[in-house]
Amino acid sequence: MSPMRVLGIETSCDETAAAVVDDGRLVRSSVVASQSDLHARYGGVVPEVASRAHVELICDVIEQALVEAGSSLDELDAVAAVRGPGLAGALLVGVSAAKAISLVRRLPYVAVHHHEAHLYAAMIEDPQLEPPLVTLVVSGGHTLLIAMEDHGRYRVLGETVDDAAGEAFDKVARFLGLEYPGGPAIDRLAREGDPEAVRFPRPMHADGLDFSFSGLKTAVVQYVRKHPDTDVADIAASFQAAIVDVLVDKLLAAARETGINTVVAGGGVAANSALRERLLDVAVAGELRVVLPSVALCTDNAAMVAAVGAYRLAADGPTPLEAPVVPNLRLV
Ligand code: KG4
Ligand code: ZN
Repeated sequence: MSPMRVLGIETSCDETAAAVVDDGRLVRSSVVASQSDLHARYGGVVPEVASRAHVELICDVIEQALVEAGSSLDELDAVAAVRGPGLAGALLVGVSAAKAISLVRRLPYVAVHHHEAHLYAAMIEDPQLEPPLVTLVVSGGHTLLIAMEDHGRYRVLGETVDDAAGEAFDKVARFLGLEYPGGPAIDRLAREGDPEAVRFPRPMHADGLDFSFSGLKTAVVQYVRKHPDTDVADIAASFQAAIVDVLVDKLLAAARETGINTVVAGGGVAANSALRERLLDVAVAGELRVVLPSVALCTDNAAMVAAVGAYRLAADGPTPLEAPVVPNLRLV
């Protein structure tokens, strides 16, 4: 790839983010303004509130990313933004900002897929990393096992048939009266609990590479209603253990089935400390190479957007400015 400096922009949900990345791997800056405090009082992301907050934040966040990178707009080679999946009004803010910069500065615009960006977080973490890889993308909206056979060549091996892993964390946290976002809240509380206190079901554990989490959420609700005196930390730890078991075992099964021996994780749930510990154990056992992006690269950020933008531009050329946002965009 010829030298390429890309400004990435991410506004698909409740993080307003911008970053400058060189050659798809070297992060010069990555700025993330989280709106989670704004949404906390509603117990979840309110789309209209998210769009308005993105509009208020986007110019400052882009400006800060350029300042921290020590880069002017003149030094950019392209501008990339996430066009889906995500909330329509939220996506429009980042995409419109990217298109405006592209138009005024005559820079190529590249529209990218949010999950493909999560996958490229691992390439930033380990700049030598190359496909083939098996990736677990676990976020608030999606749970996907993907074989990345080459740059831009993906095969979906498994996905959730109902709730996403992050959604299960958020819903169970809400039921337990924990703050939003629920994933980090359960992660923190679980450290004080016993993961073996309650044996919750591991849905579809030995049953192919698809996932199902809604039954697990119902099992937690029913257990707590029947045993209201159980320590909440034990519930959190036991619930988390069930999810982590399923995620890790299916990731390992996917590696076995494909014969690919490098596994990577991405998405907000990949920030979970129990999941990270288990994956590090796998790495230490030495059977597979495991690449685990830092926590800041797992949760939504724009460095991963700029990274994948460089590859998409090199492979497919610029995206036409009339290309719309696609809230339910699929990877393949
Ligand atoms: O990738 P992400 O930042 O945004 C989406 O693309 O959805 O993922 C957000 C999800 C939320 O459901 C949040 O609760 C979950 O990731 N999450 C976690 C942790 N940090 C964020 N789940 C479990 N443990 C964590 N430490
Ligand atoms: Zn995400």
